Amino acid sequence: MDFTAPLLTWYDQHRRDLPWRGVGDPYAILVSEIMLQQTRAKAVIPYYRRFMAELPTVRDLAACPEERVLKLWQGLGYYSRARNLQKCARAVVDRYDGRFPGTVQELLELPGIGPYTAGAIASMGFRVPAPAVDGNVLRIMARLYEDGADVTKQPTRDRWAKALQGAMSERPGDLNQAFMDLGSLVCLPKAPLCDSCPLKGLCLAHAHGTFDQYPNRGEKKPKRQEQLTVFAIRSGDSFLLRRRREQGLLGGLYELPNLPGHLSEQEIARVLTQWGLAPLGAWEIRREKHIFTHVVWDMEVVNLIAPKQAVEGLGWYTGAEPLPEAFLKCLKGQSTGE
Ligand code: ADE
Repeated sequence: MDFTAPLLTWYDQHRRDLPWRGVGDPYAILVSEIMLQQTRAKAVIPYYRRFMAELPTVRDLAACPEERVLKLWQGLGYYSRARNLQKCARAVVDRYDGRFPGTVQELLELPGIGPYTAGAIASMGFRVPAPAVDGNVLRIMARLYEDGADVTKQPTRDRWAKALQGAMSERPGDLNQAFMDLGSLVCLPKAPLCDSCPLKGLCLAHAHGTFDQYPNRGEKKPKRQEQLTVFAIRSGDSFLLRRRREQGLLGGLYELPNLPGHLSEQEIARVLTQWGLAPLGAWEIRREKHIFTHVVWDMEVVNLIAPKQAVEGLGWYTGAEPLPEAFLKCLKGQSTGE
């Protein structure tokens, strides 16, 4: 395709300097790519550095206690990705003696690796001419060709993967990353910087001023709203916590004790009595919101101080447990002992 040469030239001049670039280690590429599915490159950097400093090889990750991996992931969200990352590391150690396979097909058979990640590892780690079709690629291609197909649908992604397969030059890893950088720096979702774009002469959406119509993201389903009362109960530097059940949202992670619905003052007092807790001073209630992929938590947070005593079914948080962001924000303004 005629955009590959100008895109690679642009990449050579404008590429971002990111710590996972040019490393060539498939494990480092895997860790960075899974993290980059969570959030923006700039936000990933400190997580990536910490993770790689503590778990520099696939064997280190395979051998690490799961709770520690989840703690290193704390703040990135979507914890099933961290669990799958570790499952993948264990499979690489068990099946391949710790050396990543280099073909897309073998990579796809590893847990937690889909077509995008397989393409990224194969192209950046093994110079395999495989595309890595993510949201950036889909946005750029939809605009270049004024393609109105729904990018949330797998057949659209498959079609672009197939079309790009033939366009992968002798620098497939760079080409994939050039798309990522162009999507992050120039072909922005809301206000693209078309004047700086190396592809503007080829872009139909630019020619027709239609960039805001592409990509077509289909119909968004409204998120389910859930009301919760969350108890942030502090004693010194500790908070009362419990483990969530294994199934469902944030399965198996820790949580602040909570109940469905927004409780009245009387109901709150009754719950505290049930736990055998006598608050020191008055409690405060404030509102917090947390947005997950499919649900929004509308939380009333009951902030209080209590004597450090045993409470059945709950434990005191030491800071080592992985506590999801939804609950960390309920502790905002209070010391978490970290
Ligand atoms: N987004 C996803 N993968 C990336 C990478 N390797 N570099 C920069 N941004 C990315």
